[in-house]
Amino acid sequence: MWDIEQIRQDFPALHQRIGDKPLVYFDNAATTQKPQAVIDAIAHFYTTDCSNIHRGVHTLSQRATAAYEQVRRDVASFVNAENESSVIFTRGTTESINLVAQTYGRAHVGAGDEILVSESEHHSNIVPWQMLCTEVGATLRVIPIGDTGDWDLSDLDNLISDRTRLVSVAHVSNALGVINPIEAVIAAAHAQGVPVLIDGAQGVPHLPVDVQSLDCDFYAFSAHKVYGPTGVGALVAKTSILADMPPWQGGGDMIERVRFEGTTFAQPPNRFEAGTPNIADVIGFGAALHYIDALGMSNIAAAEDRLLQYGNEALATVDGLRIVGTTESKGALFSFVMDDIHPHDIGTILDHEGIAIRSGHHCAQPVMDHFGIGATARASLAFYNTESEIDALVAGLGKVQSLFA
Ligand code: ALA
Repeated sequence: MWDIEQIRQDFPALHQRIGDKPLVYFDNAATTQKPQAVIDAIAHFYTTDCSNIHRGVHTLSQRATAAYEQVRRDVASFVNAENESSVIFTRGTTESINLVAQTYGRAHVGAGDEILVSESEHHSNIVPWQMLCTEVGATLRVIPIGDTGDWDLSDLDNLISDRTRLVSVAHVSNALGVINPIEAVIAAAHAQGVPVLIDGAQGVPHLPVDVQSLDCDFYAFSAHKVYGPTGVGALVAKTSILADMPPWQGGGDMIERVRFEGTTFAQPPNRFEAGTPNIADVIGFGAALHYIDALGMSNIAAAEDRLLQYGNEALATVDGLRIVGTTESKGALFSFVMDDIHPHDIGTILDHEGIAIRSGHHCAQPVMDHFGIGATARASLAFYNTESEIDALVAGLGKVQSLFA
């Protein structure tokens, strides 16, 4: 039984007013609101268990270590990773991708090699690869998108060449909401022996993810987009790849033995977690996964699909509004432009109505370039949103229109 009013009670931030208007939070692709269970888990850690991990024989350290390592098992179970050693905690998707670029990438990509991304990537899945390519003399190649925002895979066999060393693509586009056909790209890359990284920042919040069934080599995501805290996320990777991957940051907890003559490194995952990690927020991350697991990812996906259908029909009634990214294969995200009205003006006027959207290039400037625009307004929904909130958005956009008429 999907009881939306009951579910909304779990999110304290949703029950506030912006000025005299109830908050309508439609900026979930930027970050999601947190259920009380996540806030409580973090508070509990700082209230009773605060200690460093892997370093103490005392009770608090044992408790903190147990809680932290339990979340590693929870992440592995949530995305069906091979085992807990497949899960590296990072600061989030961006750091996960940089980690792969600076370790696997430096070890396997050389002069004349190629890395393949898509035109609809977030900057976090472009810039780390450009930096690596510049450093080693490799080339970044790009899967183009069509005017619906879908990938054009017609030339994929040529784009994946015998020089391709890695394919790195998003599960779901943050700027347009397109659910990408990653299975086809993984199969095509693997047919040529090329590993694949999936940027799952916008995938895990909305879709059930099974990394073993996808057979991707790396899957990166952030806690804060799955109702957990900011500043933490995961890189999930095949253990066979991690075993040979060199470390990135050096420091405590990632070593086996340190001598001035040279250092040997710990086994994964510790090899990639130098220094004191973000213990409290890892614990909050675990609470978030428990929360959405209890709701059920397929129930979440179905609820968001209902919002998508409702939103498509409702926004079609707004004069002058044009959706950017009109594919059928998308999440509950509406990226749009309105006549000549700047998206920042749309965002500001909607804010006066209590409605939070994002406006701008969404850290995906090549997508904007493709459509010949500088920015869009983006309403990105989560399972806790409602049809009446979409009605409020439509009414707010009516005010935008009348102010600019
Ligand atoms: N990547 C986040 C977004 O799309 C910040 O808004």
